[in-house]
Amino acid sequence: MTDEDPFAHVRFAVEPGLADSIAAADQDGVPDPRHTEFAERLRGYAADRLDRRPGCFVLTGLGGLSDAAARRFTVNASRMLGEVMPQDFSGALLREVKDRGLRLDGASARYSDTRQGGNLHTDGFHRPGRVPDYFTLFCLRQAALGGSLVMVHVQDVLTELRARPDVLDVLRRPFHFDTRADTPGAPRTVRRPVLDFADGSARVHYLREYVEAGHRQDGVAPLTPEQTGALDHLDGLLARADLHTLGRLRPGEMVFIDNRSVIHGRTPFEDGSAGRMMFRTWIAA
Ligand SMILES: [Fe+2]
Repeated sequence: MTDEDPFAHVRFAVEPGLADSIAAADQDGVPDPRHTEFAERLRGYAADRLDRRPGCFVLTGLGGLSDAAARRFTVNASRMLGEVMPQDFSGALLREVKDRGLRLDGASARYSDTRQGGNLHTDGFHRPGRVPDYFTLFCLRQAALGGSLVMVHVQDVLTELRARPDVLDVLRRPFHFDTRADTPGAPRTVRRPVLDFADGSARVHYLREYVEAGHRQDGVAPLTPEQTGALDHLDGLLARADLHTLGRLRPGEMVFIDNRSVIHGRTPFEDGSAGRMMFRTWIAA
């Protein structure tokens, strides 16, 4: 970990008039050539910075957008990189990430509802079906203290796992992840490997609490000692500060993160009067 701002090299300014115009865009309206050009720019950033290291980039200069315009900008800009995916049973395309006073050890609480730190993870793999390739966070308000993003790149994890092929082997086999029971009628768990190489490159599915909860479900075999040992080893790697990249979004910035290769979390945060507020989207590229 270094003290240097990791976003410094991947921060791209959006001209305020263009941001307003994208926020106001109607999906079924006549395409605006400026939007087409911006979409091409975004796809270039994605190819250079998401599909390759560092696995993230930031749009900046969006502080002039109102709360409502910021929500629309977040969805419209996300749409330029693929299909924006629903994040819950009701089909919401945008989720507010804020402290709802919940704790992750509750039965159905999601990380995005807490102000806890740690718990490095990837997003959306606990839902049956397609897993988001990218996710975005628009920072409307930052916390008074803390709330930095913590990121670990899968390539660094794989480098460390060269010394432990036995652990790698266990992580490549399926685990049961708890679905958080937010899809009525759906199975209580979804089976996926933690490290998946099916698409030819490494993809991570991980949140330790969801694996633990999945293997506690009725009818699911408890974790074996080998599985627990492999997860403990992975957690040890994810806890290593030298593998962490820490970046803090400023209000009016939107980060795009590769959900396949970047395991992420945040530092714990303390809110001031208004409270930290991020808008999140999930994208199938
Ligand atoms: Fe997340």
